[in-house]
Amino acid sequence: MSINDYIHNLFVHEDEALKRIPETLEQNDMPKISVPGETGKLLTLLVKLTGAKNVLEVGSLGGYSSIWLARGLPEKGKLTSLELEEKHARVARENVAHAGLDDKVTYVTGDAIETFSDLVSEGETYDFFFIDADKGNYIPYLEAALLCAEPGAIIAADNVLWGGRVADAENNEEDTEHIRRYNEFVAGDDRLESMLIPIGDGLLVSRVKE
Ligand SMILES: C[S@@+](CC[C@H](N)C(=O)[O-])C[C@H]1O[C@@H](n2cnc3c(N)ncnc32)[C@H](O)[C@@H]1O
Repeated sequence: MSINDYIHNLFVHEDEALKRIPETLEQNDMPKISVPGETGKLLTLLVKLTGAKNVLEVGSLGGYSSIWLARGLPEKGKLTSLELEEKHARVARENVAHAGLDDKVTYVTGDAIETFSDLVSEGETYDFFFIDADKGNYIPYLEAALLCAEPGAIIAADNVLWGGRVADAENNEEDTEHIRRYNEFVAGDDRLESMLIPIGDGLLVSRVKE
């Protein structure tokens, strides 16, 4: 049994609303690239531990991580999730409604580079960000997050180990380089306090300094 399977079996207890998501992805011809349950569970905990009330997600897919994030929110907490594909946002909306969380979650469709910048211009602020979309734009998403982050906000980014390829000096694939650049950028950024947590495919958690 792998370490991830061991952790998953002990700590991730998916209910029916989460368990049905892979099937909805298949039915809608969508990729099965949701975060693993152990990352999802950690996202719920991080939202709860930080007392976050206004969460922004980049990359919705079928709403799996949205459900984990929204489950960490207090009663009046809100999650806004940015998604490029109309179909993905529709499936995510359905799955989130099935989980009884539709009053907390709003999906915004379009290229997140633009929709994120629109939110910044509107003056909205957030206390928790979860980045899980196109790897080449992780640094622009981080910069956008810093423009609308409350002091002490959390910025978490997924897939930062990229299946271990980031640590393989021989691997120069485009997305490996994108992720490496993001990790190095965050590690050296004085505006943040950060640590890479080797859970799932790696979650880089940063706190915005006050
Ligand atoms: C890895 S999946 C997200 C998985 C989701 N966070 C989960 O765990 O359930 C990445 C998603 O980002 C979306 N995406 C890719 N490029 C994007 C962009 N430029 N703007 C917004 N969404 C984008 C994809 O369509 C896809 O649904």
